[in-house]
Amino acid sequence: MSTSRTALHVSRLCAGLTAVLVLAACSGERAGDAMAADTQAGQATAASDAGMIDPASWPQPAWPFADDPALEKKVDDLLATMTLEEKVGQIVQGDIASITPEDVRKYRLGSILAGGGSDPGGKYNARPEEWLALADAFWEASMDTSGGGKAIPVIWGIDAMHGQSNIVGATLFPHNIGLGATRNPDLLREIARITAIETRATGMEWTFAPTVAVPQDDRWGRAYEGYSEDPELVASFAGVFVEGLQGKPGTPEFLDDHHVMSSVKHFLGDGGTANGKDQGDTVATQAQLRDIHAAGYVPAIAAGAQAVMASFNSFHGEKMHGHKPLLTDVLKDRMNFGGFVVGDWNGHGQVRGCTNTDCAQTYIAGLDMAMASDSWKGMYESTLRHVRDGTIPMERLDDAVRRILRVKFRANLFDKPKPSERALGGKFEVLGAPEHREVARRAVRESLVLLKNQDGLLPLSPKATVLVAGDGADNLAKQSGGWTLTWQGDGTTREDFPNADSIWDGLKAQIDAAGGRAELAVDGKYTRKPDVAVVVFGEEPYAEFQGDLSNLMFKSGKSGDLELMQKLKADGIPVVAVFLSGRPLWLNREINAADAFVAAWLPGSEGGGVADVLLQGADGRPQHDFKGKLSFSWPRRANQYENNVGQQNYDPLFAFGHGLTYADNGNLAALPEDPGIDPDADTGNTWFVRGAPTTGMTLRLVGADGAAMDVVHPAAKTADGTLEMSAINHQVQEGARLFAWTGEGVVQLLANQPLDVSRETNGDVPVVLELRVDALPADPAAFVAAQCGEGCGGEVAIGPALARLPRGEWTRLAVPLKCLRTGGADTARLQVPFALRAAPGTRLALAGVSVSTAFDHLAECPAN
Ligand code: BGC
Ligand code: BGC
Repeated sequence: MSTSRTALHVSRLCAGLTAVLVLAACSGERAGDAMAADTQAGQATAASDAGMIDPASWPQPAWPFADDPALEKKVDDLLATMTLEEKVGQIVQGDIASITPEDVRKYRLGSILAGGGSDPGGKYNARPEEWLALADAFWEASMDTSGGGKAIPVIWGIDAMHGQSNIVGATLFPHNIGLGATRNPDLLREIARITAIETRATGMEWTFAPTVAVPQDDRWGRAYEGYSEDPELVASFAGVFVEGLQGKPGTPEFLDDHHVMSSVKHFLGDGGTANGKDQGDTVATQAQLRDIHAAGYVPAIAAGAQAVMASFNSFHGEKMHGHKPLLTDVLKDRMNFGGFVVGDWNGHGQVRGCTNTDCAQTYIAGLDMAMASDSWKGMYESTLRHVRDGTIPMERLDDAVRRILRVKFRANLFDKPKPSERALGGKFEVLGAPEHREVARRAVRESLVLLKNQDGLLPLSPKATVLVAGDGADNLAKQSGGWTLTWQGDGTTREDFPNADSIWDGLKAQIDAAGGRAELAVDGKYTRKPDVAVVVFGEEPYAEFQGDLSNLMFKSGKSGDLELMQKLKADGIPVVAVFLSGRPLWLNREINAADAFVAAWLPGSEGGGVADVLLQGADGRPQHDFKGKLSFSWPRRANQYENNVGQQNYDPLFAFGHGLTYADNGNLAALPEDPGIDPDADTGNTWFVRGAPTTGMTLRLVGADGAAMDVVHPAAKTADGTLEMSAINHQVQEGARLFAWTGEGVVQLLANQPLDVSRETNGDVPVVLELRVDALPADPAAFVAAQCGEGCGGEVAIGPALARLPRGEWTRLAVPLKCLRTGGADTARLQVPFALRAAPGTRLALAGVSVSTAFDHLAECPAN
């Protein structure tokens, strides 16, 4: 396609925008990058002296390793023999979805990872044997000296976040928010110890845990990865958890075959971003950054954490991956951290002036190993260049390599056989072992927080007739949350959880044993009227930015769970609500509708722990009392975003530390039912649903002549007749729109407010079109485009992808956001997040457009 043709296309797509959004992109100029740079410069100047760091005011934990001349000599000797290429190889990490053992053999990389969505052979439910075989293959490649390279064992890092949660059959512990409610550091140590054992069985020697974030805004999609909003509570867990994973420094167990290296994350300020936005900007004072967000690092360093992971967020506009004052002056120099700093997933690429494949700045700032997941080769090559031309000083490179080698020597990895031949390699019976599951079950029991128990409804008699309802009742994915087998924790089946009990399984087992009667009916439609109903419901699984919310109202009040409870109540059945969630949410109506309300967080594989506390024993007394206490304050209103213990005007509905026991009066007066917000005001990243634009979006048709019309009715036709739209049924009546092109018209979705999908772009999340292709012309030219204001836009050709889709069938086509960005769109400020143009003769129905990871077909980025 010639330049002028591209320019023409862009201008066609821009046509019809209002005057405010005049697009110079239509002239063919791409100003996106320049404008992005401008914005960043603006942020930096605005920061002025705010964001200054004075290392002398930071704490000084003691690093628990004395100077060790023998170890230093080993490191020095090895370093002296290493080539420049080998040194650079140590400081770049690749992801198993993008690197092979052959690559490691050739490039001598020091480390690999498996990201949340990366698995052997691309199978999310790969067998443990496959994981271990891959670990062996990478290890063998790193130890192969046949090409003249030195044998330096590769280390494999993985998100064993709530147990070795990537592996089918592993014990799944409650996510950190639930562990926070236990207030039990000894239990945490035990959980870490077990996680290390199960991780070693599958061949890895390193986990990206614990997360010691101190989430301050519960809209954040990673709130559940934090133990608490309270820094003291986080600190009380951080050190013991690191010790549980790694063993105690100075003892023979330290980093032996039963332990794994930890990475404390994400340094620093991940839980303090403005509006709880994942990967956003933390505009805190230095004192807040130090006293709140850094609290967990002090005990973690004192416990000898071998790695710290740099965070995606910025501090006053400065990305942490490029933040020398914090990474070097504070963390390493002041806080005595003697391990190495690993980056987060292409986090270096977000530093001003950097790309995923090129970032000298991050190493200069103090990063020791870049997580260049899919960009490792480019990163390796550019880093070599930067060392050769002196941009990265040799001392800095040597320091980074030394830090990594020290860790490898401390873990004795040079003397170890391949992963499968180490003490626990291949001992898959430890995965979900009964004694491990027992600890997880105990953790579930201790994490449950009782918020209401009207007239002492709980504990229930196991001899009763109990209805178990709600879509969380028999749903292991939902009770386990994100970072479970898949990144988002979705897309799994019951078979993927061989060593697990759903909440229903747990209740049924005990009720059956006691001679009661348990019935499962997700929709509440019982066959025999029960004495009581347990309704299990909550959030769907999510991870990272995909879980960010615009307010704290549970599913905008539209989940259907309230109606389910009300219906049961109307039948005269008392209701116990068990709420599964990654954070406290506003759901006063549901709390009012229920007689008893239990916050169960994301309990993981041991649904039986819920039954242990909800049901009486044979003697009619509680088997286990409620022990859980809120580690996050519960909101009084759906817009009470800052709601943290210790803050001024603290006014939660349920305070930090609250949690009833069976000895307490559990009666609760009716709560006000006004959420204080318009739940429909923000629909997140769904732009078009059931054939209609979502709130905040406008649907516009632009004719081949450039005349635009905003569409309000289900049927419309451009004035020049080149594009016609009609309503068709799909799932619901008029649930889709059929578009027929007789000329080059454009369908556009305009955002009332510019949309920021930069995080989704970085995370490789696509725009997904739910569509049905009815007819295509012989030359099926079609384009998806996005516009971002004056001089800013990009497009992707999807003609070939459309041609491959089945005719007349509904399917979901994904268009990578990163292709739009490569094409010139600044995805941080999209004004027209979606436009679709097609050649005459195209007939296509569209039901939905959203940013999502669920799709059937993927369009490829056009080669430049
Ligand atoms: C997350 C980290 C995680 C890494 C590897 C990143 O996107 O922020 O917490 O360890 O991916 O999966
Ligand atoms: C990976 C995650 C990572 C994310 C980046 C995904 O593809 O699997 O581990 O955290 O991208 O945000």
